[in-house]
Amino acid sequence: MEVLCAGAEPLQLGPPPSAVGLIFSVLLGVWSAQSLEMSVGKIPHLEAVNGSTVMLPCTYSSCIGIDNLYFNWQFNDNGTMQKVCESVIASEGVEPKVDVYRDRVEFVGKNRDNNVSILLWNITFEDGGQYTCFGRNPKEKDKNHSAIFTLIVVDKLRVVDNTLTIIIASAVGGAIALLMGFMLLKNFTLFVLTKLEEKNKECLVTSSGIDNTENGLSGSKADTKPTPKKK
Ligand SMILES: *[C@@H]1O[C@H](CO)[C@@H](O)[C@H](O)[C@H]1NC(C)=O
Ligand SMILES: *[C@@H]1O[C@H](CO)[C@@H](O)[C@H](O)[C@H]1NC(C)=O
Ligand SMILES: *[C@@H]1O[C@H](CO)[C@@H](O)[C@H](O)[C@H]1NC(C)=O
Ligand SMILES: *[C@@H]1O[C@H](CO)[C@@H](O)[C@H](O)[C@H]1NC(C)=O
Ligand SMILES: *[C@@H]1O[C@H](CO)[C@@H](O)[C@H](O)[C@H]1NC(C)=O
Repeated sequence: MEVLCAGAEPLQLGPPPSAVGLIFSVLLGVWSAQSLEMSVGKIPHLEAVNGSTVMLPCTYSSCIGIDNLYFNWQFNDNGTMQKVCESVIASEGVEPKVDVYRDRVEFVGKNRDNNVSILLWNITFEDGGQYTCFGRNPKEKDKNHSAIFTLIVVDKLRVVDNTLTIIIASAVGGAIALLMGFMLLKNFTLFVLTKLEEKNKECLVTSSGIDNTENGLSGSKADTKPTPKKK
């Protein structure tokens, strides 16, 4: 478990995290401002289709361990915070009894590895919005911490839209590739033609009339093709 103490680099705490954390803070003589930490993961948002079942992830971490940690999930319903669920975790590793106040919500974290994630069954468009995972640790002078997870509920149409975008994007990409291929082919043909023409010029002693036009042609060719002038 990665824990940040007193602004130091992340510590890899061993099996007794409370002891290591306590020694660490005593040694530094600093009472960390970030001792309790709630985390909703590296990607704090999710886009899901209505009717699906999603997990709202949240874990907590503490440098000195927990004792009757209070936590809840809140849903920001147009400005007013509605409690989704709440509980008190007696100590690490103990599965708490969670009070749930919202339909289709299940506590799945079970406090395993400090996991307080919840599951939202059969989501509707009304479920979309901001969910706050809040924690308070009495052992740390009631330090509060919270993290926000955003759920975006989309219609299946959005997915179709995406496929359409992908189709258009690949069509455009294909067209560009085709054009580039055509240009390459054209350049190659021109190159071969130039080579052939140069060969012809070497072999044929032509009349002055044709020679003039050829000079003009090779002059313009020298602009576009500077390299094959090696003899
Ligand atoms: C999702 O919402 C659309 C539009 O309201 C509806 O037609 C569709 O049945 C819903 N899908 C599910 C699985 O609830
Ligand atoms: C959300 O809040 C805005 C302004 O605060 C209000 O106009 C709107 O009616 C509210 N919507 C709902 C669904 O409560
Ligand atoms: C979710 O929807 C399925 C199918 O409609 C239903 O069987 C299930 O009971 C629902 N679950 C909850 C928690 O509402
Ligand atoms: C939390 O628990 C859920 C359900 O068991 C699991 O899917 C999820 O991966 C866990 N999260 C972490 C960070 O361990
Ligand atoms: C923590 O939040 C509660 C309200 O949820 C508040 O009463 C308390 O003063 C806060 N504690 C600190 C240390 O900010």
